[in-house]
Amino acid sequence: MRTQVGIIGAGPAGLFLSHLLHLRGIDSVVLETRTRDQIESTIRAGVLEQGTMDLLTQTGVGERMKAEGALHHGFELAFEGKRRRIDLTDLTGQAITVYAQHEVIKDLVAARVAAGAELRFGVSDTSVHGIDTDKPSIRYCHEGAEHELQCDFVIGCDGSQGVSRQAIPQALRKDFERVYPFGWFGILCEGPPSSDELIYARHERGFALISTRSPNVQRMYFQCDPKDSVDNWSDDRIWAELHARADSDEGHKIIDGKIFQKNIVGMRSFVSTTMQYGRLFLAGDAAHIVPPTGAKGLNLAVADVNVLSKALDAFYKENRTDLLDRYSETALKRIWRAEHFSYWMTSMLHRIEGASPFEQQLQVAELEYVTTSRTAATVLAENYVGAAGAQMQVNL
Ligand code: FAD
Ligand code: DHB
Repeated sequence: MRTQVGIIGAGPAGLFLSHLLHLRGIDSVVLETRTRDQIESTIRAGVLEQGTMDLLTQTGVGERMKAEGALHHGFELAFEGKRRRIDLTDLTGQAITVYAQHEVIKDLVAARVAAGAELRFGVSDTSVHGIDTDKPSIRYCHEGAEHELQCDFVIGCDGSQGVSRQAIPQALRKDFERVYPFGWFGILCEGPPSSDELIYARHERGFALISTRSPNVQRMYFQCDPKDSVDNWSDDRIWAELHARADSDEGHKIIDGKIFQKNIVGMRSFVSTTMQYGRLFLAGDAAHIVPPTGAKGLNLAVADVNVLSKALDAFYKENRTDLLDRYSETALKRIWRAEHFSYWMTSMLHRIEGASPFEQQLQVAELEYVTTSRTAATVLAENYVGAAGAQMQVNL
C-alpha cells in the first residue's frame, strides 16, 4: 500500500492531522493499535482552548462540540476557604469549551470515515523504516498478515508509549523530564453540576478539581498517591475527601452523585527534542507530556498538527521544505510555554510533601496575587485559554 503521509496513532493528533491533510488534498493512512470502540471510549482530557474550538469549527468538525459542549467564560480558584473567579473572557476576550476528548475522537473518526479515509484499527508490531531516505515506510501486522505502508512522510502521533520517538537516533535526541510525586484520582458521577464553572482548589489535604461533562454527568479529580489503588477508595471516602478540599467557608458545597468510573493517573512533564529526523515528524504526546493541571495536553497535540499540516501543504503545493525544516523549532515554542504553565499551575495548587510552612504560604501568596491583580490574572488567563501559546508561534 502507498500513501503520501503515513500516520501512526489515532489519538487527537493523528486523527486531526489526517483530517487537516484531507482538506488540503493530501492523502494519508492512519494506523492504530487499539480498536475504534476503545479509542472512542477512553476517558481523558476535557478542556478545549479557544484556538482548538476555532480550528474544529473552521474545519467542519465542531458541530457537536458547539451543541453538546459547555462554553465557559471563566473558572474559580479555591483556597483558604474562599473562591475567587478568573474571568477569562473579560481578561482575554476568549473562552474555553468543556467537551470530553473521546467525543472529539468520535467526531474526527466519523468525519474521516465519511470522507472514505483509510483508518486501520487493531494493528500490531508497528515499525518505522527508511526515514533518512525520501522513501520511508511503516511495517505492521493486521489481521494476521504483515504489511508495508510506503509513504513520503511518517508522522509519529503514537502517544508517550509509542514506537516512533525511538526511531530518532539517541545521539540526536535530548529529553527533558520532571516526574511529580503525586497523581490524580479521577471520577465520573451521575448528578447535577456543583458549580457553573470549573473549580481548581488548593487545600492542605491536597489539590481538587471540579469539572463537568454534561448537565447529568460530572468529572472530578483529587490529588493522590500515584501508587494508590482505586480499590482503597470507597465512594464515601471519595466524597469526604472532595468535600474537605473543595467546599468553601462561604457556603458553597459540591454535590455528591453516583460514581460510575474511577481511575488514577501519574503526572509528569516531558519534552523530547528534536521532533523531526529525516522524513519522520513527531506530534502530540509522542514528543511531549504535561501534567493535566493546565489542561494543555490535547490542545498541544492539535496545535502541533496544525503547524505540521501547513508545512506539508507548502511541500506538496510549492515544493518548499523550509516550513518542514522549522517544524520542530516552531512547535517547541508553544510546547515550552505550555510546559511552564502546567508546571506553574501544578506547583501553585498541589500539596508538596515536605514543603515548609514558609513554602506553603508562598503558594497562598501567589493565589492571592493572581486573584487580586488584573495583570497577574491576565497572565494566568491568557495561558489558560491558549492565547499565550498561540502568540509564541507568530512571526516564526
Ligand atoms: P494519544 O491520545 O495518546 O494517542 C496516541 C494513539 O496512538 C493511541 O490511540 C495509541 O493507542 C496509539 N498507538 C500507540 N502506539 C502505537 C503503535 N506502535 N502503533 C499504532 N498506534 C499506536 N490531558 C489533560 O489536559 N487533562 C486530563 O485530564 C488528561 N487526562 C489524561 C489521562 C490519561 C490516562 C492520559 C494517558 C492522558 C491524559 N491527558 C490529559 C493528556 C491528553 O489526553 C493527551 O495529551 C492527548 O491524548 C494527546 O493526544 P495524542 O494524539 O498526542 O496522543
Ligand atoms: C479536565 C481536565 C483537566 O486536566 C483540567 O485542567 C480541567 C478539566 C476535565 O477532564 O474535565
